[in-house]
Amino acid sequence: MLKLQNVSFGVEGEHARKEILRDINLEIEDKKFIVITGPNGGGKSTLARVIAGIERPTGGKIYLDDTDITDMSVTERAKLGISFAFQQPVRFKGITVKDLIVLASGNPKLSTVGACEYLSEVGLCARDYINREVDASLSGGELKRIEIATVIARDTKLSVFDEPEAGIDLWSFNNLIRVFEKMHTEKERSILIISHQERILNIADEIVVIADGRVEKKGSKEEILPKLLEAAGGCRFYRESQEEEK
Ligand SMILES: Nc1ncnc2c1ncn2[C@@H]1O[C@H](COP(=O)(O)OP(=O)(O)OP(=O)(O)O)[C@@H](O)[C@H]1O
Ligand SMILES: [Mg+2]
Repeated sequence: MLKLQNVSFGVEGEHARKEILRDINLEIEDKKFIVITGPNGGGKSTLARVIAGIERPTGGKIYLDDTDITDMSVTERAKLGISFAFQQPVRFKGITVKDLIVLASGNPKLSTVGACEYLSEVGLCARDYINREVDASLSGGELKRIEIATVIARDTKLSVFDEPEAGIDLWSFNNLIRVFEKMHTEKERSILIISHQERILNIADEIVVIADGRVEKKGSKEEILPKLLEAAGGCRFYRESQEEEK
């Protein structure tokens, strides 16, 4: 279980200090599928970075099972079983897609066929990609899917995906939903996804709404989804998805 206890994160601005996360308390039980949603700028990506160890909280504690991981590096947390896919993935010049997947899998003997399977999971025709460099020549959606494939290959206890749907076409998105469901049901992994997509919210065990750096709501999808739709007044996305359903 991942536990966040009074986690806050602030940065020193030019004139004043800015609190991006304020006193977040959250428990992610084992084998649960949690989706975090909320308005742009609410602090979701910051929270994901704090969980992955890319940012250190300025207050509070983070525990994985009963280990205090608050001061652990990304690598130490990865070893304990946390992996993270960025909202905007990083490119690695000089490294091929296969190298990246082999590294992620932790199995230096992973065959090309084995690596290709992970790419197929995210809808990429593996033969066309496996020997390409992870550089600027890849499109945004290709890069995003390759990064998701590396997190699947890592197969850790907890996988965190920041807006996996961003920039991904409809066909790959359908596939991706199946991949998440499979990870959840067959592998019984804990999955934390940051998403604005109703289809992803719909497969969550629990939805957490982060706004203004705080946990605004949390509960089962049955409990939270209708409330999100109710609050659609100023929120274009939820209003549109409601209209589509009519
Ligand atoms: N290092 C930083 N310095 C100053 N402000 C920051 C820093 N990191 C994040 N912020 C600000 O903190 C707020 C939360 O950012 P964050 O990226 O976590 O939002 P988000 O909920 O992921 O938004 P989105 O839905 O657009 O991805 C934003 O206003 C952002 O500009
Ligand atoms: Mg974000």
